[in-house]
Parts: sequence; structure tokens; C-alpha cells
Amino acid sequence: MKKTANMATLLLLLVTFLVACRSSAVSEPSDSSQVEKKTITVGFSQLGAESDWRGANTESMLSALSSENGYTLIYKNGQQKQANQVTALRMFIQQEVDYIVLAPETETGWDFVLREAQEAKIPVIIVDRRVDVADDSLYTCWVGSDFALEGRKMASWINSYMMQKKVDGKDVHIVHIQGTEGSTAQIGRTKGLEEGVQMYGWDLVAQESGDFTEVRGREVMASFLREHDNINVVYCENDNMAIGAIEAIEASGKKVGSDIANGEIMVVSFDGINEKAMNYLKEGKISCIAECNPLHGPRVQGLIETLERGEVPEKLNYVSETLLSSVPEIKIVVVNSIGYDVEIVK
Ligand code: AHR
Repeated sequence: MKKTANMATLLLLLVTFLVACRSSAVSEPSDSSQVEKKTITVGFSQLGAESDWRGANTESMLSALSSENGYTLIYKNGQQKQANQVTALRMFIQQEVDYIVLAPETETGWDFVLREAQEAKIPVIIVDRRVDVADDSLYTCWVGSDFALEGRKMASWINSYMMQKKVDGKDVHIVHIQGTEGSTAQIGRTKGLEEGVQMYGWDLVAQESGDFTEVRGREVMASFLREHDNINVVYCENDNMAIGAIEAIEASGKKVGSDIANGEIMVVSFDGINEKAMNYLKEGKISCIAECNPLHGPRVQGLIETLERGEVPEKLNYVSETLLSSVPEIKIVVVNSIGYDVEIVK
């Protein structure tokens, strides 16, 4: 009996010892900072502040990559100069950030600096516009819009409208205010229009860059109006330039609107984020806007989280977007045999 009691005591002591050992292995460290989640340092090079779209994009990035969400964000505005963006990227590399996020102004000219980031083993996430590099492994992934699809949807909308109103292609006299030359948004939207010109026989009267700004949109449109008296459609590659163009049209004594048979000048545009442009859409001063979604912050955050888990995200991540119009007749557009709904805005 005594022997059994001794055995039980021994067993109890052994169990107590093992539990003590185990609990000390998993116990909380006395210094609570040791258990704090590490913050992720991100260097974000934004290309500039040229438009309302850009403002919304910057804000989305800053609020997603915030300290509350576990990030230390180093933000640099490139002032629409690629050289400034390259300098910012080199600074991020020197600071040994965990990730670089790049919203590039134009597509080309990134190979060298992206190679430097790759050598420093810093993943690079491209946002909004694309980079055109010889080796795709120089960046980890991209998230943004299908700018060519935006342009094609717009061209299809113009064609449907003209067919509905029985306007012959050769009587569609279009001026084209382009965005920053060499940017993906310009390249894609220009492609959409130029394909439309080929397919539907439109008269492309003039093309010039307005650099995505309201001031340049106004200047370019004023000069188009001085040189040409038959313009009936303005294809603006963003809303800020459309606002400037509308000012120039109205200052010249002409009227904006979709009734081109009665002398109005139809304005179409891209983005759908600017309040004034949205009001113009409702009033019929802008006939159609191809949405371009700027809210990439949470998307970039999601990509970083995927990488943090050791997973491989999709290389190219397209955002889905719609067409907005106050013209009730066109409810759907077709691009490459696919139908896209038009959202009627009242
Ligand atoms: O790259 C997106 C484009 O850039 C937006 O359409 C334009 O407004 C911005 O400046």
C-alpha cells in the first residue's frame, strides 16, 4: 500500500515537472514588444497629383497601408517626372523596405531600377499603369484597369449611339484629347478609339495630349475649336480634361450635349470619380463616362498579405469596371462578342 502511494507521489512530481517545462516553452515573453506583430515597411512611389482620380488613388493607398493596418509607409510623389520616381525607388532600396509599390507614369524606362530592386530582393508591386520591361520577373505583380477595354467599350458606345440616331460614320467628326503620352491609360484608350475610327469610318479630326489635366484639356480644346469648325464629338481620356474642354466649348459660344444633329458637341470621357464630371454626366454635358476605378489600396494590401503568407499572387490583376451614361437608349455595348451593361445615371 505504502509502495503504491510512493509511486503515485513520484508520478505526480513527474507530471508537474513536465507541465512546468512545457509551459515555460510556450509562455509569453516578459517583454510584450517581442510578441507585437512586425510592421511591414512599404515604399510607395506615386507618379503625381494630376487629376482627381490620382487624388482618390493616393488616398486609398495611404489609408490601406496605414500604421493601424500594420504598415510603415514611405510615400513619395513623383510630380509627374519619371526621374523623380527612379530616385524614390533607389531611396527605398537603400532603406531596405519590405515592399516597393510603384504607380509608374509611363511604361518604358524601368528595367535598370527594377533590376536593382530585384538584386536587393525587394518585391515590387506595380499599381494602376503598367511597366514595359524586357523581363517580367522584374516585378512581382500588377493591379489596375484594362485601359484598352475601357477605350473599346467607349468606341462601341459611340457607334451604338450614332447608329441609333442614324448618323453616318463619315459624319462623326472627332477630336481626341489624349492623356500623358506613353502611359498605359493613354495607350489603351487611344487604341480603343483608333480601332473605332477604322471599324466605323469616323473622321478623326485632330489628336493632342492634354496630360490628364484640366488646364491642358481647356487649352487643347480651345486650339481645336480655333482650327476646326466641324467638330461634333470630343473623346477625352479623363474627366479633368473633359471639364476643361467643356469650359472651352462653352466659352466659344457652342453647346455641349448629345444632340449633334442640332449642333451640340458630344463629350465622352473616362474615370467617373470627379463630382463635377458626375454632375455633368447627369446634366447631359458629358454623354458617357468609362469608369476607371482608383481604389487600389485594399487590393495592394491583399497582394502584400498573400506574399506574406508565402503564396504567389496572380501576376496580372484586372479590376472590373462599367460604363456610365445618362443617355437612356444605349443599355449594352459589345466588344469582341462580349456584352457589357451600361449603367444609366439619373
Ligand atoms: O492611369 C489612370 C489615369 O491617370 C486616370 O484615368 C487619370 O485621370 C489619371 O491621371
